[in-house]
Amino acid sequence: MDQLPIFMNLRDKDCLVVGGGAVAARKADLMRAAGARVTVVAPAVSGETRRMVDDGRLAWHEAEFADAMVAGNRLVIAATDETQVNRAVFAACECRGIPVNVADQPELCSFILPGIVDRSPVTIAVSTGGRSPVLARLMRARLETLIPASFGRLANLLGRYRQAAKDRIHGLETRKRFWEDVIDGPIGNLVLSGKEREAEGQLAQLLTDKAAPTDSGEVYLIGAGPGDPDLLTFRALRLLQKADVVVYDRLVAPAIVDLARREAERIYVGKRAGHHSCSQEDISGLLRDLAAQGKRVARLKGGDPFIFGRGGEEIEVLAAAGLPFQVVPGITAASGCAAYAGIPLTHRDHAQSVRFVTGHRRGDELDLDWKNLAESRDTLVFYMSLGSARQICDQLIAHGMARGGKAALIERGTTDNQRVYTGTLTTLPNKITAAESPSLLIVGEVTQLHDSLGWFHGRGDIPTVFPDSEPYLAKGAA
Ligand SMILES: C[S@@+](CC[C@H](N)C(=O)[O-])C[C@H]1O[C@@H](n2cnc3c(N)ncnc32)[C@H](O)[C@@H]1O
Repeated sequence: MDQLPIFMNLRDKDCLVVGGGAVAARKADLMRAAGARVTVVAPAVSGETRRMVDDGRLAWHEAEFADAMVAGNRLVIAATDETQVNRAVFAACECRGIPVNVADQPELCSFILPGIVDRSPVTIAVSTGGRSPVLARLMRARLETLIPASFGRLANLLGRYRQAAKDRIHGLETRKRFWEDVIDGPIGNLVLSGKEREAEGQLAQLLTDKAAPTDSGEVYLIGAGPGDPDLLTFRALRLLQKADVVVYDRLVAPAIVDLARREAERIYVGKRAGHHSCSQEDISGLLRDLAAQGKRVARLKGGDPFIFGRGGEEIEVLAAAGLPFQVVPGITAASGCAAYAGIPLTHRDHAQSVRFVTGHRRGDELDLDWKNLAESRDTLVFYMSLGSARQICDQLIAHGMARGGKAALIERGTTDNQRVYTGTLTTLPNKITAAESPSLLIVGEVTQLHDSLGWFHGRGDIPTVFPDSEPYLAKGAA
């Protein structure tokens, strides 16, 4: 972080603006909006500054700037065309420890004025650290459209009941949870849809109800997609940002884990091929224990939790313990990788159905119904098949599939490092000897469409999978 964003209380504080033109007027107006008493110092004032002086909104000190004038002010802003004056203002403030901003001269600023989205009392500040005011303006404009004006009213309502909630609900965590449920639930929705009085009635009722709200944990089993963070669903994002703890796999991109709240605890329980260092029982037990402690747990899994994800086993343990959970579907590797490789999994001319198959071996064995697979006209997608790709191709040929049958392997699909290898059942195994995990094998005529439909060639900005790291179990967890 280049600068620390802070919000300053300027109510009834003296502030100084040096300069009497249009920029000075804008800056003075901003400080006045925050309740400051603003004086403008300039030999002459014009335009809006003149109007503000005339109608008493600004005090005008009609003089050239002198160092001593900054004393006693909470903030000082210089907005003159004269470099020497701007420098003098900066120096005078710096040696007295007074925060100073010189318009359009970042090197002469001890603070900057961010782009502001004003939904008072909610205020959002946007800064690019002085790099690009235009980008800051565009971001601000986007936020303006995203954040309804009613957010201000919601903040006022919550403020009115803050003390009542403190008196009624004991424990910081429980209170935090209570407010999150109010904001995220029907009461928040009522305010946002303009029914403030009804919302207030419900909130007051909630705080006078006999039973005080208590902590209850919950697990969100979230599909994080195959790699590109943009493929996360809105629901996944919302729950991720509610979680107290994030439990994640190796196939979940770091950028997705970063979307969790800053304070959320992060627990890595990834497995690496061949190293089941954190057993499924450990993971399921960990989720159960965390939820039983009252924590909201986001269990992030690569792709979709119910497709070769063992998500079912994890929630079985929770169901047995009577703990609440929700399941958020994710984009499974087959859909994500095929889409990013330009391989339609079904196609009127090539394949009317698709099958997801595990290529995971138990020992040396790959126990699949080869005859059935070889005879089908489905597109076949083999998960966990990197180590067994040659065996799969050989078996399909041995059971009747054409040696020239088309196939593709997608390595690290949807990420910046995506690579697509295409060939036939005979040639592909030799082309992928250096391919890395995670990889997905697709067998079927549709794979030849990659040559004409491939569109994604990496964007250079998506961190891929996690580097190897030690699995970690929370203290006291199963
Ligand atoms: C244990 S399975 C988990 C599948 C996951 N639940 C899903 O729905 O995608 C892991 C396998 O998914 C495939 N996979 C996951 N992410 C992938 C990616 N970005 N690129 C290629 N294959 C991927 C690989 O075959 C990998 O071995």
